[in-house]
Amino acid sequence: MTVLVRLLYASKVSPNFGPMDMRDILESSRRNNVEQGITGLLIMADGHFFQALEGDRKVVNSTYIKILKDVRHSASIILSSQEVDKRQFSGWSMGYVLSTEKNRPLFLSYSAGKYFDPLAMRSAAAESLLAEIDGYARQLGGTESATDTVI
Ligand SMILES: Cc1cc2nc3c(=O)[nH]c(=O)nc-3n(C[C@H](O)[C@H](O)[C@H](O)COP(=O)(O)O)c2cc1C
Repeated sequence: MTVLVRLLYASKVSPNFGPMDMRDILESSRRNNVEQGITGLLIMADGHFFQALEGDRKVVNSTYIKILKDVRHSASIILSSQEVDKRQFSGWSMGYVLSTEKNRPLFLSYSAGKYFDPLAMRSAAAESLLAEIDGYARQLGGTESATDTVI
């Protein structure tokens, strides 16, 4: 039986991380996630990743375990993991959101200090940040492309 879940985690971007690393992550995410029925969203802002992975529970777990071993980030923390009735990001094998001038206030509204710090975020806040990004992206019609920046 398939149990649909959404897992949210945050981590720290490794010091020597570069643009090619991002390209590589998005490429392999698109390839593997389509194959595995995983959808989601990846945010990179202020030296942090924040990612939502949704799909079958077993597959989401094994994907997260694989991602944990990736040296391009560290200090990963699960912010929330829950069963869901339907996917929030059904159109995206891995939507990508980069911090920009425009969306910065949104990220900062979920952080206590001057920087986006998802490692310190409570589950409820993480869930509502995700919902806001989803709303934003839908307004912009950004759900078409699997790996493009969406807001
Ligand atoms: C922050 C972060 C997010 C990632 N997200 C995914 C993902 O959603 N799906 C995936 O397959 N790999 C993801 N990766 C990459 C994996 O760690 C791994 O490098 C990749 O899956 C290997 O793919 P391959 O075995 O097809 O070469 C992510 C890596 C990082 C650092």
